[in-house]
Amino acid sequence: MPRRKPSTSQLAIVDRNGEADERPVAKRPLDFGERWSYAPAPEASNYIKLHDRYQLFINGRFVAPKSGNYFDSINPATEEKLAEIGAANEKDIDLAVKAARRAYRNVWSKMPGRERGKYLFRIARLIQEKARELAVLETMDGGKTIKESRDIDLPLVAAHFFYYAGWADKLEYAFPGRKARPLGVAGQIIPWNFPLLMAAWKLAPALACGNTCVLKPAETTSITALHLAQILQEAELPDGVVNIVTGAGKTGSALINHTDIDKIAFTGSTEVGKRIASAVVRTKKKLTLELGGKAANIIFDDAPIDQAVEGIIAGIYFNQGHVCCAGSRLFVQESVFSNVIRKLRDRISTLRVGDPLDKNTDIGAINSRAQLDKICELVDSGLKQGAQLVQSRARLPAKGYWYPPSFFTGVTASHRIALEEIFGPVLSVMTFRTPEEAIARANNTPYGLSAGVWTDKGSKIFKIVNQLRAGVVWANTYNKFDPSSPFGGYKESGFGREGGRHGLLPYLTLS
Ligand code: NAI
Ligand code: MG
Repeated sequence: MPRRKPSTSQLAIVDRNGEADERPVAKRPLDFGERWSYAPAPEASNYIKLHDRYQLFINGRFVAPKSGNYFDSINPATEEKLAEIGAANEKDIDLAVKAARRAYRNVWSKMPGRERGKYLFRIARLIQEKARELAVLETMDGGKTIKESRDIDLPLVAAHFFYYAGWADKLEYAFPGRKARPLGVAGQIIPWNFPLLMAAWKLAPALACGNTCVLKPAETTSITALHLAQILQEAELPDGVVNIVTGAGKTGSALINHTDIDKIAFTGSTEVGKRIASAVVRTKKKLTLELGGKAANIIFDDAPIDQAVEGIIAGIYFNQGHVCCAGSRLFVQESVFSNVIRKLRDRISTLRVGDPLDKNTDIGAINSRAQLDKICELVDSGLKQGAQLVQSRARLPAKGYWYPPSFFTGVTASHRIALEEIFGPVLSVMTFRTPEEAIARANNTPYGLSAGVWTDKGSKIFKIVNQLRAGVVWANTYNKFDPSSPFGGYKESGFGREGGRHGLLPYLTLS
């Protein structure tokens, strides 16, 4: 791993006995597995039918990209090539947008809501039928654990289609006394951390409202979107209602700049989000952005500490920390600090890192080499700026991209690890004395996507929650999602909401 060797006084490696092992990761002996090992329990993947090449999905058909170019999608847990993916250029984008426009004019905008709803219900049911296969593909292409793709991602994907299917014929009740009309063609760009779920968050409300879509998945995780395209064919969704174009930033940029698009929805980095905002600002395009986060999880001294530690673990190590709402900053009330740290150390030493297809794995692969480099660079900066790193002793596989569950103590508000999104399994722990201090420090970030509060007192929850500038605040739990709850941020975390009745608004005009 491209990691600078930290000075030993700054690094503690923890195993099951809480013993420190200061050897570099590569030189460490086997992990606690000797005493706590489970037999391998790999999810079957031999029945998965991967195509050698995935084409673009335009106007209801799979078509080769005009450029003739393809790029590889790899399995980040093995570094093996899974398939080639078509690279769409401006001509392909134009064809996709034209198909979406035709479908909008001739079919989808004219169709009664109850008929649109039937298609969405059908898509939701087909996703349920193929959920296991899609979960395996999601895990192979993106590196997330099968436990998560099977139990969290896929059920939520289907739930999202079911939920918005229900709104399709009830828009007049969603906004009583007002007339709701679709916008037209939506250009939608999604990231790699929840590939199918982000596709569902974008497509389901847009379609329910009567819009047509051109969706661009992230370049490292395009495969499941193209299997979703097959499901759309099976559901007999009219041609052109959804088009899926693959490629990297250039493809995304071509979609953003196409002149016949009415609405842009983007989830990804704040940097690209800002670029998109300035590209769209002088056009008629409506825009919603869901960008980064640096969420604060606040533990008060009256909190049930074991429960809180479980929540912290779920908040930062879920999906390798590739979560925009990850609880990546932890503020602990001073009087319980040592207790929380001891439990955190114990707990990370039991997390299983490795084969994402194994049903016992807690922490899968980092999505890409680039993301691993970014994590390593930020961890280095934390060490250089004087913070202390505690890292699990988990043995990392020789191939693939991995990062052990880690947390920093001795973090100050000006450290980069306290300010910037790491997007990896690395937590920054800080302390506070009073609720006022906790609120001020939690809000001291350019982001405002999510937060968590842990306390025994309901009144304290309400008092604190009202003062946190974050779109989602969880109390005595973390990272819980439901299609009926709106999700979105303040400040540099973006604007607009996805999910719930609120999630219809970005795809409608009301009169
Ligand atoms: P990114 O913002 O570059 O990628 C997200 C999507 O935008 C991908 O589909 C990508 O192809 C597309 N894209 C890239 N450049 C574009 C452009 N100029 N115009 C239009 N579309 C473009 O994110 P990246 O580079 O994969 O990750 C960098 C960092 O961003 C991560 O380390 C993390 O901190 C943050 N991030 C946040 C996410 C979130 O859910 N809020 C998701 C992914 C990344
Ligand atoms: Mg991949």
